[in-house]
Amino acid sequence: MRDTILLGLDVGGSSIKAGLVDIERGTLTTELRSVRTPAPSTPEAVLRACAQIDRELGATGPVGLAIPSVVQGGIARTAANVDKSWIGCAGGVRLTQLIGRPVVSLNDADAAGVAEMSAGGAGKDVKGVVILLTFGTGIGSALFVDAELVPNTEFGHLEFHGQDAERTASARVRTEERLDWSSWCARVNDYLARLYALFWPDLFIIGGSISEDFDQFGRLLDSPAEIRPAAHGAQAGIVGAAFAAARQQQR
Ligand code: BGC
Repeated sequence: MRDTILLGLDVGGSSIKAGLVDIERGTLTTELRSVRTPAPSTPEAVLRACAQIDRELGATGPVGLAIPSVVQGGIARTAANVDKSWIGCAGGVRLTQLIGRPVVSLNDADAAGVAEMSAGGAGKDVKGVVILLTFGTGIGSALFVDAELVPNTEFGHLEFHGQDAERTASARVRTEERLDWSSWCARVNDYLARLYALFWPDLFIIGGSISEDFDQFGRLLDSPAEIRPAAHGAQAGIVGAAFAAARQQQR
């Protein structure tokens, strides 16, 4: 029998967020669990923390593991905001060794995008080009064309004012530089303009931890494309990771 409540794990540069997800409804059946990302954030330390969350939540069935890396064929290829030893690591296989169940790993922003393009998400039924951006420790991106994901887009590393865009406009930079909403949104608007000029999206979805404050800054954002907040807020990565695990189960 297929499990309909699956664990989604969302590893970030600052915290690991997790929850059991009802994959038919796309909602958490538990409170969101959040623990600090271990330092150093090696695969071993992070996956041990993930295995402990799995045990504590009493999860069953396959697990979805969202990580802040390009993921090709289950292997992490980059590590901008986590320990460099993630590069070349098959995170899903290593977590399977710890918990004894199948694990599917994917990029964290792609996971958030998968959730937002599904039932209950901000991009459900939207055709054309949709770009989801997560603003947190870095900037993550997910690109959809007629609801099909183009994985591992990494728009946070687009060169912007001579450096990676995420070094100018992430949520972490807003906190570190104590930017008020209008100064931060001015930077984000420049960034959205650049993305718009390159990809001509129909819709931008603003996700990541900052999306929970969208009512405070959303009116300051501006683009010829429509802009919507992520419907799943900061939980989108968890929900999308669990969806990815559910798809694996269907195969
Ligand atoms: C990473 C991306 C990730 C994003 C958000 C970036 O630094 O390169 O893979 O999606 O941060 O965590």
